[in-house]
Amino acid sequence: MPRFYVTTPIYYVNDAPHVGHAYATVNADALARWHRMLGDDVFFLTGTDEHGAKVAEAAAEHQMTPNAWADQVVSRFTRAWDGLDISNDDFIRTTEPRHHLAVQEFLQRIYDNGFIELDTYSGLYCVSCEDYYTEDQLVDGNCPVHGRPVVQMQEDNYFFKLSAFEDRLIEWYESNPDAVGPAGKRNEALSFIKGGLRNISITRTSLTWGVPVPWDKDHVFYVWYDALVNYLTAIGYGTDEERCNAWWPAVHHLIGKEILRFHCVWWPAMCMAAGIDPPANVFVHGWLLVGGQKLSKSLKLTEIAPEVLTEDFGVDPIRYHLLREVPLGSDGEFSYEGIVARYNADLANNLGNLVSRVATVVGSKCAGIGPAPNHQSALADPASAALAAAADAWGRFAPHEALSATWSLIGSTNAALEAAEPWKLEPGPDVDAVLGDALEALRIVSLLITPAMPSTAAEIWRRIGLSGNPADRRIPADASWGGYPGGLAVEKGSPLFPRRST
Ligand code: MSP
Repeated sequence: MPRFYVTTPIYYVNDAPHVGHAYATVNADALARWHRMLGDDVFFLTGTDEHGAKVAEAAAEHQMTPNAWADQVVSRFTRAWDGLDISNDDFIRTTEPRHHLAVQEFLQRIYDNGFIELDTYSGLYCVSCEDYYTEDQLVDGNCPVHGRPVVQMQEDNYFFKLSAFEDRLIEWYESNPDAVGPAGKRNEALSFIKGGLRNISITRTSLTWGVPVPWDKDHVFYVWYDALVNYLTAIGYGTDEERCNAWWPAVHHLIGKEILRFHCVWWPAMCMAAGIDPPANVFVHGWLLVGGQKLSKSLKLTEIAPEVLTEDFGVDPIRYHLLREVPLGSDGEFSYEGIVARYNADLANNLGNLVSRVATVVGSKCAGIGPAPNHQSALADPASAALAAAADAWGRFAPHEALSATWSLIGSTNAALEAAEPWKLEPGPDVDAVLGDALEALRIVSLLITPAMPSTAAEIWRRIGLSGNPADRRIPADASWGGYPGGLAVEKGSPLFPRRST
């Protein structure tokens, strides 16, 4: 059985989850759900990044210990993910003993392999990024990502000899052209490597909130080096070799563009240094913007809490919006008006209208019993085209295209109904033919929307009289034309997506 291991970044617990975090998590969730329908063995990992200066500072500001603070924020993340119907198989916290063990084991191997040395570091540090910058990277003297002042730091630190991996990284990129996507991000990472790599400081003595360095108790690992290892901890690195080998390196890391260097340069080099293969794939997405700026707490921009949005619009409409509005890989505006517009156009007018129309006419012309589809239907081609396009798009990490292809089938089905106007015809074979085809199209639509809108898909499935859950069906086998058996009671129900005025 093919394996599909997908990860989100682990989120800092300096603050509550926002829509930017939900974006990455919902995308990874939809990919995991699609692969489960393909019949793959799926492992979907998310979690929280709890060490480092940023979290220690947030805890101190609230007069709490970092542990107590982290516990509180973590529960907000787990609640947010429950509220968004996220189907993760594991939730990793970097404060867990299993993670400390894996980090120590992994970095000890790099140390034993001779790729870690003691040196002095001084540089300009942004606490929000947990990263160093050079003078020329600053914007008006401030951090280029957060716009906040950087601080001068000087420490005796252990360094990872990243420079020793320049050639091996270039060779890895060249022999694995699909390892990093989209292509623009691959080129960005590769040119960064070709520009020359400097050794990087991976431990701290200035704080204690971190994973202790096993060979020198005065140091803790710098938060990024502990964090990256989470992807290995969760599959049993250091404790369950068989399990680890089963899932690694066939992983897909979904990450935001500002953490590209960590995942596409440092992380593969660290894996090489520890004697394991680099991750098979890193897919880099863009940012959701509000008024052209990255939505984030540090910039004090409008926070649109995921739970506020799901309460207002429903869970599936927000999931759909996050997957459909902004192509994965690009930046895109996120706005309330944008959600309303897409909700009305795609969900109320298209999908919702189709479901209620079909159920109403089956009620009035077929005594509520859904007819079977025709084998030679004019909708069979659009249905198989939608399936093929969706499969191809999910395979390329392009949920917006997969959904757009599905909506073409919804459009063709609505158009077929409008052309035939079964509501104006006398009950009989002509009406049955049109409605049977529409029900079959709805069955296939339910399967295709399952990764994005699992509850809506299950509800449509139920309303058209099918038993079980579309999520348990297999793609492509169960999505080919002709699966709706006919003779099932179809329920009208209330509108799935009542139209919104604002
Ligand atoms: N803790 C690190 C990741 C360590 S992974 C080994 C981190 N955490 S974060 O909470 O700051 O960000 C996590 C992810 O959320 C990043 O991939 C980031 O790109 C994403 N997003 C945060 N704001 C975002 C938007 N406004 N839009 C889209 N995604 C954004 O970095």
